[in-house]
Amino acid sequence: MAEAIKVGIVGARFAARFHWEGYRRVFGVPVEVVGVTAKSAESRQAFARERGVKAFTSFDELCDAVDVMDLCTPGSTHEPLAVRAFQRGKHVLIEKPFTGYYGPGTEDFRGNTFSKEVMLREALASCARILGAADAAGKQLCYAENWVYAPAIAKEREILAKSGGQILWIIGDESHSGSHSPYYGIWKFSGGGSLVGKGCHPLTAALHLKRVEGEARDRKAIRPAAVSARTHEITRLGTFRDSGFLRTTYHDIEDYCQVHITFVDGTVADVFSSELVLGGVHNWLEVFANNHRTRCNLNPLGALETYNPREDILKDVYVTEKIGTKQGWSHPAPDEDWQHGYPHEFQDFMESIAANRPPLSGGALARDTVAVLYSAYLSAERRGAEVGIPQ
Ligand SMILES: NC(=O)c1ccc[n+]([C@@H]2O[C@H](COP(=O)([O-])OP(=O)(O)OC[C@H]3O[C@@H](n4cnc5c(N)ncnc54)[C@H](O)[C@@H]3O)[C@@H](O)[C@H]2O)c1
Repeated sequence: MAEAIKVGIVGARFAARFHWEGYRRVFGVPVEVVGVTAKSAESRQAFARERGVKAFTSFDELCDAVDVMDLCTPGSTHEPLAVRAFQRGKHVLIEKPFTGYYGPGTEDFRGNTFSKEVMLREALASCARILGAADAAGKQLCYAENWVYAPAIAKEREILAKSGGQILWIIGDESHSGSHSPYYGIWKFSGGGSLVGKGCHPLTAALHLKRVEGEARDRKAIRPAAVSARTHEITRLGTFRDSGFLRTTYHDIEDYCQVHITFVDGTVADVFSSELVLGGVHNWLEVFANNHRTRCNLNPLGALETYNPREDILKDVYVTEKIGTKQGWSHPAPDEDWQHGYPHEFQDFMESIAANRPPLSGGALARDTVAVLYSAYLSAERRGAEVGIPQ
């Protein structure tokens, strides 16, 4: 049997937990999660203790012990940590957002009022440094965009490729009632608000599907050409009435955005994301093609409908992410990790590393995503004027 691929997880909270579960479901490729490191000693020790792995006190020490570094840390750390890992000859997994702009390091930096032209330029320079480091190392760069792997999107990929269809319009949304992470809401850690934190998911899925369409028909990816966008800070409006159900503690980010993308072939996509949606995560994407139409439901999926007359009856049962209440009718997720595409994502990443081939979600898709995200911020700064996406 081949030697196990040794993985080190960086970060020890929300994303690190589902990455751990993802590795446990990989089959056919031996994988060993060797250990974890994180900024907070308490969280890395708790994570390691609960899973029987080693807690490493430094990034470099963990890096030396593994083949793959898996970055489950805030976006602001992705470039420095990824470049460091590539320079030490490791494969790297990077959570979303791939990278971005996190400020000049001054105390008074506020992302919502800072020049978006500078942000776009710097975010693309950051992409180039990561891609350059991966190339120089000759190692795989895995961009952890789970929507590319979600079974609903994967089935649409198959329909599209086998039917030779042309996508005319895509509409997609990822929204909920607000992130749990203390880093979220502060641009210098997150690199943006709803657009970067949530909109990136349906956006990357849309970019991926248009790539697949072009590659299936003409062996050439259809890439995004221009974008128009609006962002708003609804929970910070003077007129906003807080009923206590939505998170409101944002520092300098938007909590609503809409983005209209035009591809090089003139077809379009619309992406929405916000922190304003009650009732659990709202993750879906619809494809309107010239020969079919597909509604991809990621969450809720609708596999189960449960009626629960009293909250406490389901107190020990997980229902869905950010559901808020379990009373009344709900759609419990039979396997949320599966419908989000996490097992499929880690399967492809481990297979790509074992076979030394690029993963389905890799550097080119990650770079296009960042280019659209920050071009969208520039458009929003110009109140929706169209911005060409730097190629
Ligand atoms: N794909 C998805 O569905 C999904 C879901 C949630 C989060 N994420 C992404 O995962 C990443 C982590 O998010 P999270 O929700 O787990 O955040 P979190 O705040 O819950 O955890 C962040 C972890 O990173 C550690 N950390 C911070 N800076 C570090 C550094 N310089 N070196 C080492 N460790 C450091 C912290 O100690 C903590 O353990 C983010 O990029 C986020 O966007 C993706």
